[in-house]
Amino acid sequence: MAKATKDRELTEVSEAQIAVHWKEEEYYQPSETFKAQANMRDPHILEKFGLDQFPDCFREYADMLTWFEPYRTVLDTSDAPFWKWFVGGKINACYNCVDRHLDKYGNKPAFIFVPEPETEPDVAIKYRDLSSRVNEMAALLRGLGLKAGDRVTLHMPMVPELPITMLACARLGIVHSQVFGGFSGLACGSRIQDSGSRVLITMDGYWRNGALIDHKANADIAVRTAKDLGQEVDKVLVWQRYPGKYSAQTPMVPGRDVFVNELLKDYAGQQVQPVALPSEGPLFLMYSSGTTGKPKGAQHGIAGYLAYVTATSKWILDIHPEDTYWCMADIGWITGHSYIVYGPLANAATSVLYEGVPTFPDAGRPWRIAERLGVNIFHTAPTAIRMLRKLGPQEPRKYQYRFKSMTTVGEPIEPETWRWYYNEVGKREAVITDTWWLTETGGFLGTTVPAIHAMKPGSCGPGAPGIHPIIYDETGAEVPKGSGRAGNICIRNPWPGIMQTIWGDRDRYVKTYFAKYNRNPRSKDWRDWPFMCGDGAVQAADGYYRILGRIDDVINVAGHRLGTKEIESACLTVPEVAEAAVVPVQDEVKGRVPEVYIAVKPGVPPSQDVIDRVIKANEEVIGKIARPKHVYIVPDMPKTRSGKIMRRVLAAISNRRDVGDVTTLANPDVVEQIRKMVQGQDAVTTREELPEDIAKFGQAE
Ligand code: WTA
Repeated sequence: MAKATKDRELTEVSEAQIAVHWKEEEYYQPSETFKAQANMRDPHILEKFGLDQFPDCFREYADMLTWFEPYRTVLDTSDAPFWKWFVGGKINACYNCVDRHLDKYGNKPAFIFVPEPETEPDVAIKYRDLSSRVNEMAALLRGLGLKAGDRVTLHMPMVPELPITMLACARLGIVHSQVFGGFSGLACGSRIQDSGSRVLITMDGYWRNGALIDHKANADIAVRTAKDLGQEVDKVLVWQRYPGKYSAQTPMVPGRDVFVNELLKDYAGQQVQPVALPSEGPLFLMYSSGTTGKPKGAQHGIAGYLAYVTATSKWILDIHPEDTYWCMADIGWITGHSYIVYGPLANAATSVLYEGVPTFPDAGRPWRIAERLGVNIFHTAPTAIRMLRKLGPQEPRKYQYRFKSMTTVGEPIEPETWRWYYNEVGKREAVITDTWWLTETGGFLGTTVPAIHAMKPGSCGPGAPGIHPIIYDETGAEVPKGSGRAGNICIRNPWPGIMQTIWGDRDRYVKTYFAKYNRNPRSKDWRDWPFMCGDGAVQAADGYYRILGRIDDVINVAGHRLGTKEIESACLTVPEVAEAAVVPVQDEVKGRVPEVYIAVKPGVPPSQDVIDRVIKANEEVIGKIARPKHVYIVPDMPKTRSGKIMRRVLAAISNRRDVGDVTTLANPDVVEQIRKMVQGQDAVTTREELPEDIAKFGQAE
């Protein structure tokens, strides 16, 4: 075939099958200074973690931890695909994050807490202080009768008391389930019920965008919700944001609610031995959204998870004990668990914990903090980078900080934003790792090893050491690299950081992540169980992966996963609403935002009041992050003849695209009516292709 024809065909194939968000960009090299000091400098590291070395290569990760009893088996596959890592060992995550550093780093800060109000001083918590506070809290939890295997739900803001509580749980083997502080009381309550927690740990208030929020109010809603669903909560432990002063308006419930800081006085100075727990015991649950309306509790185990986040914090984030590291994520999400708490602490890091909003009171705030505290490793999400760029493109230049390395996580980052991050925030000195991974995977899946690989804006890079991605098409055939075609990205092999199961739902675990590409449901061979991540991706000829986004009707809002079904159920709590459909819309800052279409019940006039209550319902049932950008009341939903709502048609309208051929629908006329309502009389469609996640939206049903 003539080259020109072939090229044209390839172009046609790629334009038809992938949404090209941006063109392939040039490479950037890490500086010699960075390379010289990096923790991982072995150019053969990926080969050393090749599939022919699997699973023994991961012994090196386990060796980074301190064990009470050594493990016997690296990987046990007998209950495939419920992998067990480092079986036979005894270990404690809290011991590894705190106790083992005391001799050498006892006087070094583990955390530097930065309150949101700029008038309040930073609070440095040395490893020694962290140890005594964690021990006292563990004694308190033990005093309440809690023991290994029990679950407790945390609904806490970004304050040191959060990691202190998590570590106290880990010390005893209590399984913590931290619900993002910005989630509503209702959302917290359903997670309490699912996890079977009898104790809720929260805080009275916290600062957010200049306001001291009454957070205790959410606890009352959460407990009531859990009770309605069948789960009693006996104790609500309330930390005070300002010890000795109650910062909430909501009254304490006698007999049920207790101020933690007061109760702690009974345990002053107490020490609790870290419990020697089995490697594969559960460490925590982290709820995340998927295709159905019910969030799933990703269960992570102790040894495998801890080994994985420890090693990746060391090699990818390049944390040395001498560094000052700052991850701006919230501990309420997996990024905070893995890369603020467990990974960095296991490496004896000094880590900044910031309470508030990055742009409060202005877009210079992060750079002032970085300058004052000497932060040299910085970690955040594309949404924050876009926001800081929009509000203060020149701000980083005003401050004298120096980053050696920077990370981005949570969403695809477009090259233009990447370049501002590199040029302005990193001052052309810092390396960038674009780390792609999921709640379910515990730690990084796709990333460059920063001293070894060139950076390519818009691509996360190859698989992390020991992670072997593969892209499958719908039929299960491998999509070759360089083909320009997209498919479902999967991981061929298990790795220590992978979740153990979905809490209480083994079948859903198998179904969601393995069923589609599993070769034999009875197989005990890991090769038959590729892990399906739920993202669309393309692999370039150089081996780098570009992640295109979720393919399971999850909307990634500002890096946070929201399930379509959850938002739609929230809308349906408004009695006038008969039907609701949610679609993702491209947003300059947040990546994607939800837009809602509702049909009201017969006889109900469309009104602003209904719209307002739909918005409020989303804030109450899920949280402010689920606030829809627009709510449209439509005469009818576009439907197939079998009555299925065509969310893809609505997504095209919301994103100003042509709706395509709708003649086969049951009610094609309504499409034009809705289009006019949203886009105005004249079509305002753009010809640019829709990004993959939006183009495919609605297919998972
Ligand atoms: C998306 C966050 C592109 C992806 C750690 C994934 C990314 C979902 C990246 C998981 C990245 C995460 N580039 N997309 N670097 N990182 N994602 O569970 O769609 O909150 O499936 O975990 O975020 O979100 P989760």
